[in-house]
Parts: sequence; structure tokens; C-alpha cells
Amino acid sequence: MSETSQAQHDYNYKVVRQFTIMTVVWGIVGMSLGVLIAAQLFAPALNFDIPWLTYSRLRPLHTNSVIFAFGGCALFAASYYIVQRTSQVRLFSDKLAAFTFWGWQAVIVSAVITLPMGYTSSKEYAELEWPIDILITLVWVAYCINFFGTLVIRKTSHIYVANWFLGAFMLTVAVLHIGNSMVVPVSFMKSYSIYAGAVDAMMQWWYGHNAVGFFLTAGFLGMMYYFVPKQAGRPVYSYRLSIVHFWALISLYIWAGPHHLHYTALPDWTQSLGMAMSIILFVPSWGGMINGIMTLSGAWHKLRTDPILRFLIVSLSFYGMSTFEGPMMAIKTVNALSHYTDWTIGHVHSGALGWVAMVTIGSMYHLVPILFGQPKMYSTKLINIHFWLATIGVVLYIVAMWMSGVLQGLMWRAVNADGTLTYSFVESLEASKPFYIVRFIGGLFVVTGMFIMAYNCYRTINAPKESIVDNPATAGA
Ligand code: HEM
Ligand code: HEM
Repeated sequence: MSETSQAQHDYNYKVVRQFTIMTVVWGIVGMSLGVLIAAQLFAPALNFDIPWLTYSRLRPLHTNSVIFAFGGCALFAASYYIVQRTSQVRLFSDKLAAFTFWGWQAVIVSAVITLPMGYTSSKEYAELEWPIDILITLVWVAYCINFFGTLVIRKTSHIYVANWFLGAFMLTVAVLHIGNSMVVPVSFMKSYSIYAGAVDAMMQWWYGHNAVGFFLTAGFLGMMYYFVPKQAGRPVYSYRLSIVHFWALISLYIWAGPHHLHYTALPDWTQSLGMAMSIILFVPSWGGMINGIMTLSGAWHKLRTDPILRFLIVSLSFYGMSTFEGPMMAIKTVNALSHYTDWTIGHVHSGALGWVAMVTIGSMYHLVPILFGQPKMYSTKLINIHFWLATIGVVLYIVAMWMSGVLQGLMWRAVNADGTLTYSFVESLEASKPFYIVRFIGGLFVVTGMFIMAYNCYRTINAPKESIVDNPATAGA
């Protein structure tokens, strides 16, 4: 039986299809918001003096919609697909799967309504107020039961490594979310953290950093370990390395949070510990990256004709780049220059756009035809155009932010012979303006690519079953 027809019978593909479509939809929404706030940074009038269009409210909406809506839906789709296929069994519960889909969309819609209205806990990446936090917890528990339940009833003796990463992502995010969201509600949409002062900051960045480590990294590594070998048609380069990668990564990430709080009221030794652990973290990160890229051994030629594979491999290169840059920025003396500047924003997007978005896009292009009964995507040419738009867009974005960031850091610390500051803050803002315009253009490239992806998916989904074949108009990379 073909991969497609077998799937229609045995597996719950409905929920995977739903999450896959919403990944594309929320990708467009979240990234368009990114472009809008990027424009507001050099043209502030673009908030039209409307409170819910102000930068301060749309920025958290951007981060929530790209991380939890776009990234979250991609992780739900990929994990539900991977766990079924590698366990050779249908999901543990269809009802729980449906609950997680509708529940997660309800969380996102609540964010879309409440954040522009100004409701916020003010904790970065955990801005949503307590009633929504409770809904997140319920959805997440259902998700964990469904995922681990499927592993329990699996028909294979082995648990494939992708599931290890996905399982670690789910369990850790549960602990982080509950730990950091402990609040005392004072009204329906207002609460105060139970932590105070430096402890609150420490909890927040234990959460924030591990949201990066487990939501934006471990989960997507799970995706990588399944879709890269599938798309390359080769086994993982070294299965042993993938296991070492897993244990090293999950045992190191959890210690690195204090690198977000260098030179603050946090005890000095915790800052140094965070720095040391971040530097060590470079090793498993690159081990994983090399394992992914080397999976192509003997199949490098496929990169010439397969833009989906190109998305996946370029995403790994950005993963390598951001996990080299991160440990560098964790060094206190480097952080003294980079902190508060656009360098951080460049680092964020080389990880978030270069790694997370590109591995997601590649994986979704792999999935869509399988889920909708087609041998391939409607147009390989359009995937190729999307690939170049995304790659050029990300490079424009991060190079502009690196230049702007280093410039800001240097201008802020420049002093005259008499000890006064050489530049005012406004002068550094003016110096950043051209880079903000370049970042905006890079963002436009990326979003245009997402619209092309939506069109390609639409044509693939709506074509009669098994009807898409190679033809000169659409094939060819
Ligand atoms: C078209 C693509 C995108 C554009 C134009 C864009 C633009 C922006 C802008 C202008 C900011 C605010 C920067 C600042 O405050 O100085 C931002 C922040 C952020 N974006 Fe994006 N973004 C895009 C895609 C993404 C994606 C796909 C992700 C994650 C998967 C992401 C994650 C973040 C995060 C985590 C922050 C907060 C960074 C921090 O606080 O240090 N962005 N983005
Ligand atoms: C070995 C891996 C990594 C290390 C050691 C690391 C380290 C760092 C450091 C030192 C900062 C700056 C903190 C500050 O000055 O405020 C930072 C910020 C950040 N990194 Fe990384 N990074 C790593 C990988 C990644 C990856 C792969 C992603 C995305 C997928 C990512 C996303 C972020 C985000 C979103 C922030 C901004 C947080 C905020 O201030 O809002 N990092 N990282």
C-alpha cells in the first residue's frame, strides 16, 4: 500500500491536516505583524494613533503568533504525524486530538484579542493572562496524554529518536509554563506573579531561555530528525550521535537561563554558571547540526533539484550559526556590547526565521502532498522561488541587525576625553534607521514567500486526487 492510501485508513491524519493548514495561516499572520512592527520602528506614524495598533501591543502579538501559533501548530502537526508513523499505530485518542486542535486555536484567538487590548502579564513570551494560561495547561495535558499514550500502544519495539526530542519538548514546556505562570489573580484579566524581585527575573528567564531551548529547539530537532532523512531518502548519519545529542542537549539547556541577566541583581555566580553552561552548549548543538547535514552524505546532488531539501539543509546551517553566536553572546564581556542592542534581534531571527521557520516550511512541503493524497506539491518551481525569497529575506534581516547592533553598542559606550558620552541616544537611533529599512525589506521577502506557499498548498489540496504529475510548467528547481 502506498504511503498515502495506507495513511488514509490507519492513521488520524485529520488533525495533522488541520494543524498543517493553520501553520501556513498563522505563519502569514505572525510574519505580516513582524513586517508591520518593523515598519513602525522607522515610521512610528504607522500606528495611526490607535491604541491597539501601537508597537508595545503588537510586538508581543508578533512573538506569540510566530512562536506559539505558527511554530506551535507546526509542532502539533509534525509530532502527531511522526508519532503515528514511527509507532505504526493510530493516535491514542481522536477526541483528545480534536480537543487539542480547537483548544489551541482558542488560545491563539484569545491572544489575538487580548494582547492588542493591552491585557498582559508583562512576562516576555508568557504575556497571556491567567484564564488563558489555564486553557493552555488543559490543552497541553491532553497533548501529552495523547502523544505518550500513542507511544505506549506502539507496534514497534523501538522509540525513534525524533520522539525523544518531541517528548522532552512537551514535558519541559509543561513544567516551564506551570512554574512561570504561578500568579495571584486580582480580577478576571489581571494577576500578579507570586515571585518577587530577582527571583521573579530568574524564573522568567529560566522559562524564557528554555522556551527557546525546548519549544524553539528540541521540538524542531524532533522535526529535523524525521523529515531530513525522509526527504533525503537516507538514514540518519549517526544514530548513536543522535542519542548523545539528545542527552547532552536536554541536560545542558536547563542551566543556561542566567545569560539573559548578565550584570543584573542576580547573584554573580549564577551569571557565571549560566555563561559556562552556554559555552558548553555549543558542543551538542553542533553535534546535532552536523548529524543532520551529514545525513545527506552520498545524496548531495539532490540539493540541486530538490528545493524542499534545500529548505531543510539551509535551516540546519542557520541552526549552526545561531548556536555558535549564542554561546559567544553569553560571554559576559561580549554581552556587555550586545545586550539591549539589535544584535540580539539579529541572533533571535537567525534562530527563529533561519532555523525554526525554514525547517518548518521544508517539513510542511514534505507533508502537504502526503496528507492530501498527491504524489507531490503542485509546483516545484514555486517552492524554489519561495526558497530564494526566504533565504535572501533572512540574510537581509540578520545582516542589517548585526550591523545596527554593533553600531549601537559601540556608540553607547563611546566616551570623550572628559568622560562625557560622545553620542546621545537619539543619535544612535538615527544611525540605526537605514538598517531598519533593510530589515523591513527582508521581512517583505519572507512574507511574500509565505503567500506563495499558501497558493501552492491551495492548488495542491484542491487538485483532483493523484492528479499532480511532473510537467514543464510547474516542475524543475
Ligand atoms: C517576516 C518575518 C519577521 C519579521 C519582519 C520580524 C520582525 C520583528 C521585529 C521588528 C521585532 C521587534 C524587534 C525589536 O524589538 O527591536 C521582532 C521580535 C521578535 N521576533 Fe520577529 N519577525 C519575523 C519573523 C519571526 C519568526 C518566524 C519568529 C519565530 C519563530 C520571530 C520571533 C521573534 C522574537 C522571539 C522576537 C523578540 C526578540 C527579543 O525580544 O529579543 N520572528 N520580530
Ligand atoms: C547554544 C545555543 C544558544 C545560546 C547559548 C544562546 C544564547 C543567547 C544569548 C546570550 C542571548 C542574549 C541575551 C541577552 O543579552 O539578553 C540570547 C537571546 C535570545 N536567543 Fe539565543 N542562544 C542560543 C540559541 C538560540 C536559538 C537556536 C534560538 C532560536 C531558535 C535562540 C533564540 C533567542 C531569543 C528569542 C533570544 C532573545 C530573548 C529576549 O531577550 O527576549 N537562541 N541567546
